[in-house]
Amino acid sequence: MKDYLKEKIRFIMRTELISGEGIAFDLPTYLKANKWKNIGLIIDKGLYDNNDYIEEIIEILKKEMGQVELLVCTMPEPTYDYLEEVKKQFIRQKLDCFVGVGGGSTLDLTKGLATLQTNEGKAINYRGFDKVKNIPLPVVALPSTAGTGSEVTPYAVFIDSNEKWKLGINTEYNYPRLGLYDSRLLDSCPLKIFASAGMDAMTHTLESFVAKNATYMSRMFSREAFKLLFVNLKKIAAGDRSKETKLSLLIGSGFAGIALMNSGAGPAGALSYPLGVYFDVPHGLAGSVFLPEVIRYNVTNGYEEYSQLFNLVFDEPRLSDKEKSLRFAEEIKKLSDDLGIPTSLFGFGVKTEADLRLIIDNSTKVRTAFEQNPVLFGDAEIEKTVFALK
Ligand SMILES: [Fe+2]
Repeated sequence: MKDYLKEKIRFIMRTELISGEGIAFDLPTYLKANKWKNIGLIIDKGLYDNNDYIEEIIEILKKEMGQVELLVCTMPEPTYDYLEEVKKQFIRQKLDCFVGVGGGSTLDLTKGLATLQTNEGKAINYRGFDKVKNIPLPVVALPSTAGTGSEVTPYAVFIDSNEKWKLGINTEYNYPRLGLYDSRLLDSCPLKIFASAGMDAMTHTLESFVAKNATYMSRMFSREAFKLLFVNLKKIAAGDRSKETKLSLLIGSGFAGIALMNSGAGPAGALSYPLGVYFDVPHGLAGSVFLPEVIRYNVTNGYEEYSQLFNLVFDEPRLSDKEKSLRFAEEIKKLSDDLGIPTSLFGFGVKTEADLRLIIDNSTKVRTAFEQNPVLFGDAEIEKTVFALK
């Protein structure tokens, strides 16, 4: 962890956040307060088809706002080609902002569209870091899953189908201006999405907590996120769908996103990318399968600060920090089990040794994430971790 008394640290949080059951009904008030009248509205297909509440929100927006240009996002993990295709609907419209309602992919697509509205040329030209020159249109984000934290982060992830890789449009301009946490948007969320999104947030919070670039401030958010996620994902696994649980998960995943962008990702997050791209495993599930193994590896190599997180949810004063940290790995695995997530790679359709090699070889494309791990995590460790999970 970086010491603020010894080195320069930066903490950033640019999104105004509002939470409450039914808060999406107030969307026109917030939009008008910012003098935004004509909006691009991007809605997740799953939500559009299954949650009646969304119909009421569209209706109220159409009544209260000027132009409402609606796009239903049909792609679970959008590609640059898809972004290029759907931008045509908006490019000639005079819009004031974009509103995204959906999971992380829908919110990322919203950010991509807001960027292309003020930056000419093909979507793929903005792939990478700091390629965006003009300030995008403002983005308002309403997550309908508790996971990516896209409503607070500047990341907008897209798949490059040619290179078979996920590399987003990453720019400091892409922080959403406003994020609304409305538990009613999670009313139609199935268990498997609660599980994959929740474990994505869990991966963000655990890896940002231990990352070398973690700071005093980022850790405050990691800790609070961990508590909210651990306690409330257990409730989800037990069948609880109360508004309190949903709001807690939304806020927990937002905090995890704030921690992640102010600290760093780690090996589990990095290893999730090839599993997602080559085996179509949802991003959150892909990260969670690696988490217990990475934790165990770190503990056996002398890193015991997981005990601090363990202490937040368990009362076991007799255990040493090492014992608590090892138990912590077990508890995270148990949480995945409770949520019905496979805990081996073969459970995700990885079948042969060549498949395992594909994951290993492609994970090194995100080397900076491995460098953030508190103990050395080189090529040999990547290989060991992947083979341990077959
Ligand atoms: Fe993630």
